[in-house]
Amino acid sequence: MDLGCGCGVPTSRLLADKFRVVGVDISDVQIDRARQLVPKATFRRADMTAVRFPSQSFEAVVSLYAIIHVPLREQRPLFKRVFRWLRPGGLFLAILGSGRWKGIESGWLGSESPMFWDHASADTYQRWLEDCGFLLEERKHVPEKGSKGHVLFRVRRPE
Ligand SMILES: C[S@@+](CC[C@H](N)C(=O)[O-])C[C@H]1O[C@@H](n2cnc3c(N)ncnc32)[C@H](O)[C@@H]1O
Repeated sequence: MDLGCGCGVPTSRLLADKFRVVGVDISDVQIDRARQLVPKATFRRADMTAVRFPSQSFEAVVSLYAIIHVPLREQRPLFKRVFRWLRPGGLFLAILGSGRWKGIESGWLGSESPMFWDHASADTYQRWLEDCGFLLEERKHVPEKGSKGHVLFRVRRPE
């Protein structure tokens, strides 16, 4: 699953070459674009904090630069749900914030709507993920010009 898939490019598209992919995004426009751009994947317009999937229905969940747009209080419960959606041994790959920050910016990348961010520090994210039962496999800083960057977490539900 690609959680917060945007228009499906590049992540869902790359994954759909090898796997059955479900993309989830809250934006109607992005889901319409994703369906056109990545016909091999299935897309669902939904709020990731409310969407329902059966337990143990995915081998992997990927979420790049998306969970940080959800209010922080919703993120920890979301990690617990991701854990449940994964089969034992399943992988969760997420790009999250590197430091605590909450804010809204207008005109971000030319967007007409204001953009909202809310993220914890990398240490807090690691603790929340481990508290859910995930095993940490990789934590890596992802630099970004003009910002503190992000942190990539690769964690696994134990067998
Ligand atoms: C910065 S984009 C990243 C898109 C894609 N993952 C990528 O790396 O190109 C963040 C995406 O998260 C989606 N998003 C934000 N809040 C969401 C929510 N509550 N549920 C589902 N998608 C959400 C937005 O619509 C947007 O497409």
